[in-house]
Amino acid sequence: MTEHPPLSDIRSALQNAAQRLTTTLNLPLREARLEARILMEQCIGRPHAWLIAHDTDALTSDQQNAFTQLLNRRLQGEPVAYILGWREFYGLPLTVTVDTLIPRPDTELLVELALHHLPASSCSILDLGTGSGAIAVTLAHLRPDARVTATDQSASALQVARQNAERHAANRVRLLNGSWYEPVNQECFDLIASNPPYIAAYDPHLQQGDLRFEPLTALAAAENGLSDLRHIILQAPVHLKPHGWLLVEHGYDQQEACQALFHQAGFSQIATHRDLGGQPRVTLGQRGEG
Ligand SMILES: C[S@@+](CC[C@H](N)C(=O)[O-])C[C@H]1O[C@@H](n2cnc3c(N)ncnc32)[C@H](O)[C@@H]1O
Repeated sequence: MTEHPPLSDIRSALQNAAQRLTTTLNLPLREARLEARILMEQCIGRPHAWLIAHDTDALTSDQQNAFTQLLNRRLQGEPVAYILGWREFYGLPLTVTVDTLIPRPDTELLVELALHHLPASSCSILDLGTGSGAIAVTLAHLRPDARVTATDQSASALQVARQNAERHAANRVRLLNGSWYEPVNQECFDLIASNPPYIAAYDPHLQQGDLRFEPLTALAAAENGLSDLRHIILQAPVHLKPHGWLLVEHGYDQQEACQALFHQAGFSQIATHRDLGGQPRVTLGQRGEG
């Protein structure tokens, strides 16, 4: 049976919630406090600054019930992004649902590198496995002159990407349902970006934390997690214009395998970039003239 903690004012409700999150989910206290505050902001519809100024205000019973409900969902492990229905990515609030991966800060590195490698004038971009549209929508938002196409085999994920494209990119993302390059036929692009599934199916992390709640089809791939990366990298030259760039996100231990695939596919300027934690997470390369 779920417990209803005796809440009185905002401050004690937050303290109590942070304590329970620490004990139940084993979260560091700092993270638990942050999560408790985000859930409170959602319940009472006020920003952080307001909570600080009113932390001795009593909660109404509706607010108290709403907070208890959200807190109980989180205590059962549900990710905060799914509870709220959104997650911030590259400064944009993106809608997320259980049909989409929750966009990660690691993928912001991929977006940053894509922006750096895009031609200065009008250009075309393909995002493979767009999920919530994190990569495609952010690039379309920041480069209004770009023609952005995104594919995903999940029709329900594409519905979410459509909402995000409407909200942040004036609908300027062409969303296509199908497997990897299949929906774009023989079309060629200046830049292809992808954050495909790359976790090995037997990896125990799939049974832990937020990953338990996310779609397995967005996370796990065959061949030790390499099968989708292999397909995307080896087929990329067919869909890149001369001098076009391919950028892929991958696991911290897949740099060598990805670089070997880029060489096999005939790319030059191959490089791997590290995330904020110092792990090699994005490999890129340029197609030659041929
Ligand atoms: C790791 S998620 C990335 C989502 C999003 N790009 C992001 O970075 O947050 C991988 C995405 O690839 C999609 N996917 C998996 N297999 C696919 C396939 N064969 N063809 C197209 N998309 C696929 C999944 O539905 C999921 O949305």
